[in-house]
Amino acid sequence: MRDIRQLYLDFFAQRGHKIYDSMPLVPDDASLLFTNAGMVQFKDIFTGKIPIPTPPKATSSQLCIRAGGKHNDLENVGYTARHHTLFEMLGNFSFGNYFKKDAIAYAWEFVTQVLGFDKSLLYVTIHESDDESFSLWCEHISPERIKRMGDKDNFWQMGDTGPCGPCSEIYVDQGAEFFHSSEDYFGGEGDRFLEIWNLVFMQYEQKDGIRTPLPKPSIDTGMGLERVVALLEKKLNNFDTSLFAPLMKSIENLTNKRYYHEDELLKMTDSNVGELRHTSASFRVIADHARSVAFLLAQGVNFDREGRGYVLRRILRRAVRHGYLLG
Ligand code: ALA
Repeated sequence: MRDIRQLYLDFFAQRGHKIYDSMPLVPDDASLLFTNAGMVQFKDIFTGKIPIPTPPKATSSQLCIRAGGKHNDLENVGYTARHHTLFEMLGNFSFGNYFKKDAIAYAWEFVTQVLGFDKSLLYVTIHESDDESFSLWCEHISPERIKRMGDKDNFWQMGDTGPCGPCSEIYVDQGAEFFHSSEDYFGGEGDRFLEIWNLVFMQYEQKDGIRTPLPKPSIDTGMGLERVVALLEKKLNNFDTSLFAPLMKSIENLTNKRYYHEDELLKMTDSNVGELRHTSASFRVIADHARSVAFLLAQGVNFDREGRGYVLRRILRRAVRHGYLLG
């Protein structure tokens, strides 16, 4: 896990990017409840409010919370394979320096050569209007593996205000073995094709519903560390990775119940598999929420009846409820 994070930062540092620390979870920005992406600390550079630093390229592993505001995954946590309220986002950023061509080439090189994903398992999406990205991707991948999608999937915004732009996402095919839904085709709603990296081509600033061009087209990317770890460890659920193993062990010790990995649950034929599924979901909720609550408290957020403190309270309440469910 630590190695993947370091490999990422080193890869971009070797290509002239400065490594930035993760910024606090509470941004100095009234338009956002929490830091919800790696680009938040660079927002004012993208919009031209503060000057472009030297070098004009950055990389980071940013701790993010998505439990309130525009990007809110709270209710999904525990019941999907990939959602977290707190997660780490690896990212590389260009401030008016390189644009689509290099962003795509770097991502392709990192995914195929550093992470070692087999090219036959990779697919990409682009914004439906983005012919330039289509041509650039064709230098790396065959055109049948590139899918055009609309704004809902391939236009990224930080929130109602702030920098935004069309994006291109890289997907990994996890194989047919465990995925049998009719939606498990590339571009479908199923889980078989997993998005691992979002490359945003920052071009606009949105304010009061109006988009104006940024001073300089820029790059913002985000790759979920927990997802990549799961793929590399061949796990079907992020909570089944080595990253969460110590938390699951602690919850097992506290509850005297066992946590089952997704592949174990899928192979079970016992009549009580439904119940074991619920138990595992509660483990995941508690593991995820314990991380968020711990980090938010440590960073000075306190329980409250509104705003950030209320989100914190809701996260803790949800974890407590699942504690009761586990007895
Ligand atoms: N900011 C982009 C995202 O969060 C990379 O997906």
